[in-house]
Amino acid sequence: MSDMADKWIKVGPVAQFESGMHTVAVGRQRVVVAKLKGRLFAFDAFCPHVQGPMERAEIEGAIISCPLHAWRFDLENGGCELHGYRGIATYSVRVDEGLVFLALR
Ligand code: FES
Repeated sequence: MSDMADKWIKVGPVAQFESGMHTVAVGRQRVVVAKLKGRLFAFDAFCPHVQGPMERAEIEGAIISCPLHAWRFDLENGGCELHGYRGIATYSVRVDEGLVFLALR
């Protein structure tokens, strides 16, 4: 794990992500953090189709639907798209001492 220590980026206190969708800036990248089905997920803030704002996605369990053309991404399966289109990038989330960390690739 020590070789991975450098890649974890702190995004805020865990209480901040208890409900709703939250876009955080990590360097030049924007990532949405959301607690769905009791678990924190992190995914690109922009849809891989034509950049729909995923912070406004509809939520059904751990499936998020883009507000523009309804591509649906299953966060429990790596962000794959349910119709077979391109999936959304997801990121590992870790909670440590009340703080949320993301691992960007
Ligand atoms: S921009 Fe997301 S489905 Fe079209």
